[in-house]
Amino acid sequence: SRTAPGAPGPAAPGAPAVTVRVPAKVNAQLAVGGLRPDGFHDLANVFLAVGLYDEVTAEAAEAPGISVTVTGPDADQVPLDGTNLAVRAAELLAAHHGIEPRVRLRIAKDIPVAGGMAGGSADAAGALLACDTLWGTATPRAELLAICAELGSDVPFSLVGGAALGRGRGELLTPLAVGGVFHWVFAPADGGLSTPAVYRECDRLRTASGTGATSADVPDPEPSGPLLAALAAGDTPALAAALTSGPAGTSNDLQAAALSLRPSLARTLAAGAAAGALAALVSGSGPTTAFLAASADGAERLAAALRSSGTCRTARVATSPAAGAAVTGAGG
Ligand code: C5P
Repeated sequence: SRTAPGAPGPAAPGAPAVTVRVPAKVNAQLAVGGLRPDGFHDLANVFLAVGLYDEVTAEAAEAPGISVTVTGPDADQVPLDGTNLAVRAAELLAAHHGIEPRVRLRIAKDIPVAGGMAGGSADAAGALLACDTLWGTATPRAELLAICAELGSDVPFSLVGGAALGRGRGELLTPLAVGGVFHWVFAPADGGLSTPAVYRECDRLRTASGTGATSADVPDPEPSGPLLAALAAGDTPALAAALTSGPAGTSNDLQAAALSLRPSLARTLAAGAAAGALAALVSGSGPTTAFLAASADGAERLAAALRSSGTCRTARVATSPAAGAAVTGAGG
């Protein structure tokens, strides 16, 4: 063994399994700056964690290596090879500590897959925390966050949850105050959208409209003052106004690109608006659409109207903010 006696390392078979619950997110604002030389875009990304959750369980394995199984309605859309972000998270954590990974990961998937709600990022953050707990590696928070950033731009936020402003490519987080509960309805679409494809489409639309897509052409993204104030005050009408302000009528700079790649989303947005949503927008890179409601009852009514509109696969209610990745159980 490469692990000294008493040192942290892969848990012995029979050690209790560890389950971590991780929330989805919606972007209250996604201001997209110019294309950087490294292929990413500078962002002003106002993340809100919402109460739809994946659960990641890490269980000691006898054989070295990492295996993963996924359950849930969309399980067949999740890759099980080395490109699975939960597997990569376990690999990176083991490498960080110089230990051989030995773990069985189980993902109970409830967040839409490739839906613009950071489901893959949630699984990565969940696997990281579950393995760190199972293996007893007790990684300091700052190191966990650095590993998260290596796994993906949205992964650090999946770990911390709540509400945060993400700068850089989204990984540099500042926590935000939220003064109340917001009621949402989310309408997953049939099939996902590739995040890189949506960013490319955003660049293409900018170039086609004559503005250009690089940092030389696009203004630096800035968070919206009224939006941050609405969050801090827990003021739903003010948040609705901030979500739908600006020349494009949305706080999400990727919305036009998502609509361009998936024109049918316009019908879902219109159905939600007609059913009384205070704001209707694409969640992140889509194709999930997000609708703000005034109350829990209002959200239930809106969800029912969306389900019967025939413009989306289903509609789910959820509130924000929600707590970040957290161990919910050890044992079993
Ligand atoms: O960081 P993550 O792996 O989630 O990013 C996936 C892709 O999304 C990147 O390869 C890039 O094409 C795009 N992206 C971007 N700018 C960001 C975040 C993501 O262009 N700030």
